[in-house]
Amino acid sequence: MQLHDIRSAELDGKRVLLRVDFNVPFFEGKISDTTRIQKTLPTIQYILEQGGYPVIASHFGRPKGQFNLEFSLSQLVETIESIIQEKIIFFSDIYNQAKLAKKGISLLENLRFYSGETDNDASFSRQLACWGDIYCNDAFSVCHRSHASMVGITKILPSYAGIHLQNEINQIDALLGGNNHPSMAIIGGAKISTKIAVLMNLTQKMDTLIIGGAMGNTFLKATGHKVGTSLVESDHVETANKILQLAKENSCQIALPIDACVSDNINHASNARNTDINSINEFEAIFDVGPKSIESFRKIICSSKTVIWNGPLGAFEYVPFNKATLEVGKIVAENTQSGKIQSIVGGGDTIAALSPHNIINEMGYVSTAGGAFIEYLEGNPLPGIEALRLRNEGTL
Ligand code: 3PG
Repeated sequence: MQLHDIRSAELDGKRVLLRVDFNVPFFEGKISDTTRIQKTLPTIQYILEQGGYPVIASHFGRPKGQFNLEFSLSQLVETIESIIQEKIIFFSDIYNQAKLAKKGISLLENLRFYSGETDNDASFSRQLACWGDIYCNDAFSVCHRSHASMVGITKILPSYAGIHLQNEINQIDALLGGNNHPSMAIIGGAKISTKIAVLMNLTQKMDTLIIGGAMGNTFLKATGHKVGTSLVESDHVETANKILQLAKENSCQIALPIDACVSDNINHASNARNTDINSINEFEAIFDVGPKSIESFRKIICSSKTVIWNGPLGAFEYVPFNKATLEVGKIVAENTQSGKIQSIVGGGDTIAALSPHNIINEMGYVSTAGGAFIEYLEGNPLPGIEALRLRNEGTL
C-alpha cells in the first residue's frame, strides 16, 4: 500500500508534527534498545534537510492519562539528542507553546499523560494540531491504536506517512504479496488465543506454517497427542482443529513438532531430555521443540523463498529451552545472508530471543512493531494507516 509520503510534501519553513514510537525498553534509568529511535532518523533528517522543523510526539509506556515522572519522555532527551546529533527543545506541557521557536527540533511530553490521546478525543486532536502545519506518521508500531495522534489528527492537518512507516508497510506487503512462493511462516509464542486471526489469515496466504511454542502444544493435543503437563489452552483445542481444517482447504501445510525437549519443571534443566512427541511421560511438559523437528524445519526453510516469523519456538528465557529458537534463527539468518530467502521477523519476544546472539542483525527485515505487526498479519486495516489513506483520498 502506497501512502502519501512525506517526501512528496512541501516542507520548507513548515512545522511538522511527527508522530513516532519512542516507547523504548527502559530499565534503571537507561534505554536498553534504541532501535525505535534510530529508525526514525531518516524522516527527521529529511524534514530538516528540506527546511522543516520536526515537532516530535510519542507515547511512552501506559501512564493512563495521568502525569507520572516514571513515564516522562524528558528521561530520553539526552539519548535522542546523541542519536539525532542535534539539540532538542523539550515541552513538558502540550497546552503551553510559549517556548516554541521557529526553528530546530522539539519534543513533546508523553502524549498518554492526557486521556484525550487514548480516547481519540476531538478537542485533544485540535490541541495537538496547534503544533504543526502538517502531520507525519512514522509510527507503524502504534498504527493498531485509534488514538488522537494516530487517527483524530488526520482529520485536521494535511497528513503524510514517514519514511520508516512506509518502509515497514512495503517490507511486510512484499512478503505477504504472493509472488514469493514457496512461502512460509513460523508462528510461536504461548497462546493460540492471541493469534487466531493471524493463523487463519496466514493459512490462506502461506504454503507452509511451522507452529511451535506453547501454542504448538494445543495443536498437538488437537491432533491426538499426549502432552503430559504441558501448557495447553483446553478451550482452544477446537480452534486448533478449525485452523488445521482451514489450512487443508487452502493447501497450506502445517508443520508441528515431531519431537520435543521436555522436563518435569521449567527450572529443572538437569532433567531436560529430548523425546519423540509420542513418548512424553505424564509428569513431563514440553518446553522446546526437539532436534528432529529442527531438522525437518530446516528442510522447509531451505526450500522456501520467503519466511515470516513471529513468536519463539520454546521457553527461550530458560536455558536449554532456547535451543530451537536459536537454531532455527541461525537457519533463517544463514539462508537470508546467502540470498536464498527473504525473511522478516517481528514481535518483542522473538527479537528478545534472537538479539543477544546477534542473529537478529542477519535477518532480512526486523519490524519494530509488536501488536501492530500481528494485527497487520491478520489482514485487517490498521486504524492509523487507514486514517492516512482516507485523508489522502480526501474522504475525511
Ligand atoms: C508497542 O510497544 O507495541 C507500541 O509502542 C504500542 O504500545 P501499546 O501497546 O502500549 O499501545
